[in-house]
Amino acid sequence: MLPTPRRARAGAPVPAAAGPAARFPGVAIYLAERRMGRSRRAFLARLALSKGFRVLDAYGSEVTHVVMEQTSAEEAACWLRGRAPAAPPGAVGPALLDISWFTESMAAGQPVPVEGRHRLEVAVPRKELPSPAWMLPYACQRPTPLTHHNTSLTEALETLAEAASFEGSEGRCLSFYRAASVLKALPCPVTAPSQLRGLPHFGEHSCRVIQELLEHGVCEEVERVRFSERYQTMKLFTQIFGVGIRTADRWYQEGLRTLDDLQEQHERLNKLQEAGLQHLQDLSTLVQRLDVEALQQLVEAAVSEALPGATVTLAGGFRRGKLQGHDVDFLITHPQEGQEVGLLARVLLILKEQGLILYHQHQRSQCEDRTWLAQQKNTMDAFERSFCIFRLPQPLGAAVEGSQRPCASWKAVRVDLVVAPISQFPFALLGWTGSRHFERELRRFSRKERGLWLNSHGLFDPEQKTLFHAASEEDIFRHLGLEYLPPEQRNA
Ligand code: CTP
Ligand code: MN
Ligand code: MN
Repeated sequence: MLPTPRRARAGAPVPAAAGPAARFPGVAIYLAERRMGRSRRAFLARLALSKGFRVLDAYGSEVTHVVMEQTSAEEAACWLRGRAPAAPPGAVGPALLDISWFTESMAAGQPVPVEGRHRLEVAVPRKELPSPAWMLPYACQRPTPLTHHNTSLTEALETLAEAASFEGSEGRCLSFYRAASVLKALPCPVTAPSQLRGLPHFGEHSCRVIQELLEHGVCEEVERVRFSERYQTMKLFTQIFGVGIRTADRWYQEGLRTLDDLQEQHERLNKLQEAGLQHLQDLSTLVQRLDVEALQQLVEAAVSEALPGATVTLAGGFRRGKLQGHDVDFLITHPQEGQEVGLLARVLLILKEQGLILYHQHQRSQCEDRTWLAQQKNTMDAFERSFCIFRLPQPLGAAVEGSQRPCASWKAVRVDLVVAPISQFPFALLGWTGSRHFERELRRFSRKERGLWLNSHGLFDPEQKTLFHAASEEDIFRHLGLEYLPPEQRNA
């Protein structure tokens, strides 16, 4: 339980650290008073405690995030040296952060990922991009970490990519995604348009967008798109589970604009979309790491009950290290080929009996039909799968962020369950770990540079008509002549 912070007078110490119920176990904040002042510090501490953060009154080895205000990197480093004994080599000290990380986290109701711009650790001379910079052309040829140095630029390009996808302009959409992905892989922020020279995938249009952003802080085209009725409506509709671009476009053309419009005409919705709309509130709230852990336990228990020895592996964004996601992706397999047949139906039966499933759409395996081998363009795979909405029990008193049911005992969470035979498992894991752009690039690289067709089932040589067997993801990278990238570096 959170201690109820008493109204503190100016100058009062920080309230006691939050107890074991702190919602974000990996985060312990220390507010350094320096320029903050005591009363503001006490106020900020109460705010953080009320949101379930752990705030420590004294600086110590448990602190993970030191937050300062109006402090330069040099001053911050000096402050830390005066407090912490020299860390043993290789040890990771606390993050030294500007107040911006704190305020963003309070606004988000959870710790936001630490990005370069939050850090006060640039005491060494600022890294500058060589100009022109240099980079390998395919996203699968270079590491792309989860947090990078060009967030506002990539967000702008990705807005244009998304808007292009809404208009069915696939080429334009890909160009913007490729340019954004290049910026994600850069080791430091782009500060001048000249630094784009020589970077792959920076055509005239993307360069113009970046130039405007660097010069004016905003890009007129991006703002226009972002606030357009078309973009906003398409975004609203496509965020409903089961609604793709084509359906959203049809509704838009027919004059529908709001969720109320859809509710009124709900005979238009198929079962999947109806479920999506019904649980929209929960489903548009991001899934958190703690939810993932709880879900994994539930799924693992059901899977081992249905078939002892079968395994559950986390894939998708959470495998890439994301702290939040729109759904949770699990791959299921069994070390003995063939044992996995029929497993998913039993798993779902068990989960349903436990009242954990609000909705699921099962898709049979289409693997008997071996045409998937010769599908070079296919993005969907043929595995048996279930697109589910789980009814995930919430710990007592846990608030569902943004929910109208602030103390709900459960929340709806999207879960994808996919079953792969063990012989195809490394390909399935690679394919379902993403990111989507990384996968697209990996397949394009295989096809164009190696003449091989890669999908979530295998790697096919169309000339020799042979399939490559892999025991691990590393095997697949090796066979393609690519340096292995761990999941955390596939955030392209
Ligand atoms: N995927 C797939 N076939 C599908 C759906 C997804 O192969 N029918 C793959 C995608 O290529 C992606 C991965 O599964 O690489 C995860 O997809 P998704 O859950 O949509 O995205 P995440 O990267 O997990 O991000 P988030 O869920 O947080 O939005
Ligand atoms: Mn996912
Ligand atoms: Mn998914």
